[in-house]
Amino acid sequence: MNLNEFIRDIPDFPEQGIVFKDITPLMGNPVALQAVQEGLLDLLQGLKIDKVVGMESRGFFLGPALAMHLNAGFVPLRKPGKLPHTTLKQAYGLEYGKDVLEMHTDAIEKGERVLIHDDVLATGGTAEAACKLVEQAGGVVVQCNFLIELDFLKGRERISAYSVQSLLHY
Ligand code: PRP
Ligand code: MG
Repeated sequence: MNLNEFIRDIPDFPEQGIVFKDITPLMGNPVALQAVQEGLLDLLQGLKIDKVVGMESRGFFLGPALAMHLNAGFVPLRKPGKLPHTTLKQAYGLEYGKDVLEMHTDAIEKGERVLIHDDVLATGGTAEAACKLVEQAGGVVVQCNFLIELDFLKGRERISAYSVQSLLHY
């Protein structure tokens, strides 16, 4: 099945000059959705994972489903002021704009093996922030895994200290 057929380019969204990869057609198709989940799990090649970390918002689309299949927990990284308990914070710059990600201080235990998952790897700023949060908590980043990697933005170089796997490349 060609998953690219379910990803739609939206020019000038959310800003002029950005071509947005819209994955909602893929999310809405049960066969494509199943194939994506299987594909992302295959990238792990059986590695043991204790926690899947997903970044708000689109890392929440598939992160919990991956966690359930891995018998792992799911940890949400959220934008500022959304998490109710005490948090670790990490600022980052992304393809369009700047932001902060937060994670609950008790979300990850020392030595836990973590899969970072997000829909898109662009400049790598978001994923780098996620890796830093996991490491601040004492977790071990086993893999960063993405549905889509925008190769031309070279995000992979920014997180070159980690194993980076993506299902689709543009
Ligand atoms: C998008 C995308 C990734 C991130 C990738 O999220 O979902 O999380 O950008 O960009 P980067 O590699 O340059 O950091 P966005 O911050 O737009 O928010 P959303 O997931 O809530 O739509
Ligand atoms: Mg995102």
